[in-house]
Amino acid sequence: MASLQEQILPYEQEINSFNPANAADLEQFRIRFLGTKGIVKLLANEMKNVPPEGRREAGMLLNSFKQLAEGRYEQFAHLKDEGNANAAAIDTSLPGAPLPIGTRHPLRIVENRIVDIFSKIGFSVATGPEIEDDWHNFTSLNMPENHTARDMQDTFYVAQNPDWVLRTHTSSVQARILETTPLPVRVICPGRVYRNETISARAHCFFHQFEGLYVDKNVSFADLKQTLYYFVTEMFGPDTKVRFRPSYFPFTEPSAEMDISCTVCGGSGCSLCKHTGWVEILGCGMVHPNLLRNFGIDPEVYSGFAFGMGVERITQIKYQVNDLRLYSQNDVRFLRQFQGL
Ligand code: DAH
Repeated sequence: MASLQEQILPYEQEINSFNPANAADLEQFRIRFLGTKGIVKLLANEMKNVPPEGRREAGMLLNSFKQLAEGRYEQFAHLKDEGNANAAAIDTSLPGAPLPIGTRHPLRIVENRIVDIFSKIGFSVATGPEIEDDWHNFTSLNMPENHTARDMQDTFYVAQNPDWVLRTHTSSVQARILETTPLPVRVICPGRVYRNETISARAHCFFHQFEGLYVDKNVSFADLKQTLYYFVTEMFGPDTKVRFRPSYFPFTEPSAEMDISCTVCGGSGCSLCKHTGWVEILGCGMVHPNLLRNFGIDPEVYSGFAFGMGVERITQIKYQVNDLRLYSQNDVRFLRQFQGL
């Protein structure tokens, strides 16, 4: 009886030269070599006639023969799909199946909404670099070196250059705008900011802010109040109340913090407002005369207001997100809740 090797040889040649024209050819090949009564099976059945000392070698031979047949079959597997496609007679005039797209990130939803609201009253959008120099992030904003206000913003410095920082707030864009843009200016500046905070539910080493800046002749605190009142009623609804508390920022004088009536309990007291009925949403004030002077603007002729708010904070209030870490964990169970917004 011919050895296994001799039996396999012509089949190997047949397999190597196999070149099917269509799915039917391929199917015949499968049945002939790999089917339940195919050549691979038949040869395997003959293993019992091989003396024990030759079985190992015969097994290896048979195995590589089987792999050869399977490999050749797989090489032409695409023919099966073509066969199916023809059979199904695809109607190419039908519109394509819609691709499922992701959802917008909640912070982006809120950012877009903020831009919409302010653009209705003539604010345009400006951006600035996230790696900033000391002048734009601090010094020009009336926070010279050793100013205690710098302590409130624990800063990441960039090792390559002691003058560079990861910007701690979007107020740096105010500086860049005042430096380059002819007056009057009316801008909002969205962007990411960085502070060396330990990550927890209430703090993160990066977050997002919106800066607002309006400088013109005769801009008053009343304009600031009305602008921000308009913003919150658009954002949180017409019943929203506001209150201003005196505060301190080096770049504004006078400075204030603005609270809104709690959107969850309406003022009666809940965990969001810590049972005060009010939630703080932003800092603001009249642009400090020193700032205007730093950019060659005469504070006797021009005045302006500025404000800065955290996008995470606005989102937290609007959608009751109570853990800051959720924004950057990429958990689809969280993100999908914002579908369609
Ligand atoms: N830059 C301040 C911060 O990050 C926020 C801020 C307060 C911005 C008052 C302003 C402002 O423009 O007028 O804490």
